[in-house]
This record gives sequence, structure tokens and C-alpha cells, in this order.
Amino acid sequence: MTAIPEDLVEAGTKARENALAEFSKFKVGSALRTSDGAIYAGCNVENATLGLTVCAERVALWKALSEGAREFTEIVVVTAAARPTPPCGACRQLLWEYCGDIPVHMATTAGASKSMPLGELFPYAFDKDDL
Ligand code: THU
Repeated sequence: MTAIPEDLVEAGTKARENALAEFSKFKVGSALRTSDGAIYAGCNVENATLGLTVCAERVALWKALSEGAREFTEIVVVTAAARPTPPCGACRQLLWEYCGDIPVHMATTAGASKSMPLGELFPYAFDKDDL
């Protein structure tokens, strides 16, 4: 898979700085590109009940969808973890339904990276075609 575009990593890295991660201390940034080139970024938002936490990917996706964006070309997840961080299962489901088989880039602040098509990260997915 191709290298991660710098502007996307930059947007995800910047969004990560706004992470509300006082419980896990695990800050995540994400940036989602639309087919017309716009970038929507998000960070994880935690709260005291823990269970209502929203991942960075979903914040980026909700921002984009609520602004009317409907076609997406790629997404990045940025963390400071030891290995590039993959999206959780819930985010994979939502990304699959709203973005389709886009490349998922994973980058660390130390410079490690990995990219995989969402279809490989989330094979044989349930979606509207199954209804
Ligand atoms: N998290 C994300 O925002 N995205 C991921 O891909 C993995 C996990 C968040 C959720 C929670 O705030 C923290 O990271 C620890 O799970």
C-alpha cells in the first residue's frame, strides 16, 4: 500500500493534541479525507462513565457526515503507542458502512506506520446488503 500522505498525518497528529483522555491516558487523533480533498479530524473523547467514550475515528466520521460529506478516500489513526494502532471493532463497522473499503493508515508519533485496506482489517462485514 502507498505511503501515508503527510497532510493527513499532520491533521491527525494535531487533532490528537486535543484528546480528552484523562482516564486511559491514551491519546488518539484521526483524520478522514473526502473524495473532494477535504479533511475532517477528530480526537478521542472520554468521560467519567468510561463507557460513553467515543474514539477519534468516530469523532472524525461524525464531523464529516454532519457537515454533509458522503464519499471518503482514506483515514489515518495517530497514537504514541509502541505499534501503529488499528481502529477498534465498533469503528471498523461504522467506517465500513459509511466509507467502504478505504485505506486505513496507522501512524505513531515516533514515525512507525502501517496501512491496510479496511476490507482486510474487517473481512466478511455485515452491512445494508445483508438486510
Ligand atoms: N481509541 C481510539 O480513539 N481509537 C482507536 O483506534 C483505539 C482506541 C481510544 C478510546 C479510548 O479513549 C482510548 O483510546 C483507550 O482505549
